[in-house]
This record gives sequence, C-alpha cells and structure tokens, in this order.
Amino acid sequence: MTDYPKTSRLMQRGTDFLGCESAILCGAMSWVSERNLVSAISNAGGFGVIACGAMTPELLDAEIAATKAMTDRPFGVNLITMHPQLFDLIEVCSRHAVGHVVLAGGIPPKGSVEAIKGGDSPARVICFAPTLALAKKLLRSGADALVIEGMEAGGHIGPVSTSVLAQEILPALAEDHLIFVAGGIGKGQAIAGYLEMGAAGVQLGTRFACATESIAHPDFKKAFFRASARDAIASVQVDPRLPVIPVRALRNKGTETFTAKQIEVAGRLDRGEVEMGEAQLQIEHYWAGALRRAVIDGDVEGGSLMAGQSVGMVREEEPVAQIVATLMAECEEALGRR
Ligand SMILES: Cc1cc2nc3c(=O)[nH]c(=O)nc-3n(C[C@H](O)[C@H](O)[C@H](O)COP(=O)(O)O)c2cc1C
Repeated sequence: MTDYPKTSRLMQRGTDFLGCESAILCGAMSWVSERNLVSAISNAGGFGVIACGAMTPELLDAEIAATKAMTDRPFGVNLITMHPQLFDLIEVCSRHAVGHVVLAGGIPPKGSVEAIKGGDSPARVICFAPTLALAKKLLRSGADALVIEGMEAGGHIGPVSTSVLAQEILPALAEDHLIFVAGGIGKGQAIAGYLEMGAAGVQLGTRFACATESIAHPDFKKAFFRASARDAIASVQVDPRLPVIPVRALRNKGTETFTAKQIEVAGRLDRGEVEMGEAQLQIEHYWAGALRRAVIDGDVEGGSLMAGQSVGMVREEEPVAQIVATLMAECEEALGRR
C-alpha cells in the first residue's frame, strides 16, 4: 500500500477506532450501500457501512452474511432510529458480531445504545450530531463517536453547513472525542482541512455512489456525471403544519412530484384522514420508493436522485480503490504544502 504518513498520523485515532487503514467512511446510502459497494470500500482500506433503511431483520441478516462473504475487513451497519423493528435489527447485528452500528434519523430511542453496547457481542455506537448541545448529550448517553453532517450532503439534511458545524463542534470536542465530518467533501484537500481542525476522519456518500462497484443503474450514474453542484437542490416544505426533513437531490420531475405529494398529504391531514405521525411516515415512504425507482430501475425523471453538492466533482465511473487512493494522495499533498 502507498504511504500517506501525514494523513495517516492525523487519521490514527479514526483508523484505530474503525479498524481500517484510511479513516474514510462511505456513508450508508439506501439501495446503494449494499454488499458490493460496502465490501469494496472496506477492501480498499476505507470503512463501508450497510444501509439497512426499511429492510426487515431477515433481509439485514442476509445482507450482512453476504457482505462478510465478500470481505474479511470490518464494516458497519446503519440503522434508522424510527424503524419499528429497531431492537430486532440490533439483535441481528449482534448475532453477526458487527463491530460498529451507526444510528441515523434522530435521537436514539431509550435503551437502543445500551442494547448495541451490551450483550455477548458489544459494538461501538456512532451517532449523528446536529448541534453542539446534542453532540455533548449523545456522548454522555454512550455514543463512542459522532458524525457531523452539513446541509451540502446528499439525502436527508439538517439546516447548517459543514463548515459552520465543523467550526462549532470540532474545537469544542475533537480533542477528547472521535468526530467524523460529512457533507460536501469531494476532494482530499477538504479532508486535510477537517483533519487539521481535529476530525478523526470523514464520511462521504455522493463521491462513492457511482463507483464501478456500486449497483446503481447506469442511468442514475450518468445523471450524476452530468450534474453540477447547483443541480443538487434541497426539497422545500409546502405546509408549515407538516414538518418534512429536507432532502437534497438532483432537480427533476420527481422533485415537483414531491411538492404535489406534500400538498396531497397536507389535505388528508386537514380532512382528519391521517394523524401527523402517519402523515410524516407517508412522506418518508415516498422518498424510499422514489430513491429505489432511480437507483434500481433507472427512472431518473420520476425517481429521486439523492445527491450532495459534491456531485459536480463526480465526473466518471471509477473503482472504489482508485477513489480512496486519489482522496488520500490529495490530502497528503495538501498537508505537505502547509
Ligand atoms: C443516494 C444517497 C442515499 C443516502 N441514504 C442515506 C441513508 O439511508 N441513511 C443515512 O444515514 N444517510 C444516507 N445518505 C447520506 C450519506 O450516508 C452521507 O452521509 C452523505 O452522502 C455525505 O455527504 P456527501 O453526499 O456530500 O458526501 C444518503 C446519501 C445519498 C447521496
């Protein structure tokens, strides 16, 4: 393996924690982060994470087993906190001795962190921290590491940019805790900057979504190669009563359909046909279905092309190992110049 001494030194805490060579996580991407991409990332020295999304425990069980058959290196599993079978999914991870569980989609419900860290095969817990106050709370509640993700990212996003989150959270917490930075990272120069600010490593999604090993449909990949940063737009909320988490995706007909979907669900809320919780769930189901249509079926018009602003830096299909090597070399070069 090529040496990246400066980068490796700054990534040391992250690589020790993850058990890999480069503290570069490929963030879980529903439908995209399955056995092929996840094993390729881990085999390339990064850290792959399976996106459980709405999978049943049986499906997750099969996906973990299949991933293990393709790599003997560590990888993680991303679980969505509002999944109705969250505790069964944790049990599946524990049975497979998965070393790292990432909890996404909100504050972990009571007992979930303990369930992951307890039992016969305790795992490390990684949580998303949207603010400094919540970051401190999550660490007190047992999170072993945090991901701070800015609004440049693809998929569901918060309201604050990566650069601001990094300035608020890294100086306060990074010396004593493991913080990984995500959102808008397309080149190693940006990784160098966050490592110098104290990050233990980084998480990228968009940059890996169209790798050779990604099973995403060729038309999904072509849409990424054509797009520039300004095409990756955040969804808008049409009804103040119906809070929807914004999603960043490439502008297409599906973006407009989502606006119509919100108006339809808000109407049902008005008529008392659905409760607020159910209304929000319908919106989330819409996204899951729309992303599947784009990633798996290649419906790039009607489906959801979730992508971050770094999509402009994704120009062609490249093997995962080449992407990781490029990021590491760029980071090393940037650190050498300082
Ligand atoms: C197509 C796509 C699907 C995603 N799905 C998920 C998901 O299911 N769960 C999750 O926690 N994050 C999801 N994300 C976010 C990524 O894990 C990652 O944090 C993000 O892409 C990092 O920002 P970047 O896109 O700017 O690199 C998704 C991102 C993309 C592009």
